[in-house]
Amino acid sequence: MTSNNRIVLSSDHSAIQLRQAIAVHIAALGWDAVDIGPTTPQSTHYPKHGKAAAQRVACGDCRFGIILCGTGQGIMMAANKVKGIRCGVCADPFSARMIRQHNDANMLSIGVRVVGEGLALDIVDAFLTSRFEAGRPIIPVEYSAI
Ligand code: RB5
Repeated sequence: MTSNNRIVLSSDHSAIQLRQAIAVHIAALGWDAVDIGPTTPQSTHYPKHGKAAAQRVACGDCRFGIILCGTGQGIMMAANKVKGIRCGVCADPFSARMIRQHNDANMLSIGVRVVGEGLALDIVDAFLTSRFEAGRPIIPVEYSAI
């Protein structure tokens, strides 16, 4: 575990329960779970939550981010708009391991309508116990539009 052991968690309204279960799970593993909500079930827009979590990672305040929405796709796209973020959607532990080992992902996105809680926790474990492998291609912080 690195010296910065904070993991920011966020979601839209659809995934509050799973997000909170993940927060409890990672805290039990010794990570500092920084859950930035939301906590109320009112419908809310996933882009702002993806952005808020991504900014906590991009600025160095948190080592990793875990974000959730219905599919995991929308909030992942929003997070990846923040400079320096490499976020992948995972519905299986193999992919979660690969996005750390091969892509140096710093955020993980999960779809609450895609996976159940047990599988989601396995995905989180695979992500957090894998390391980027030296010598792999580095994804630039950003590309220009042309
Ligand atoms: C919300 O209804 C849903 O669109 C959202 O959670 C997510 O799946 C978007 O990508």
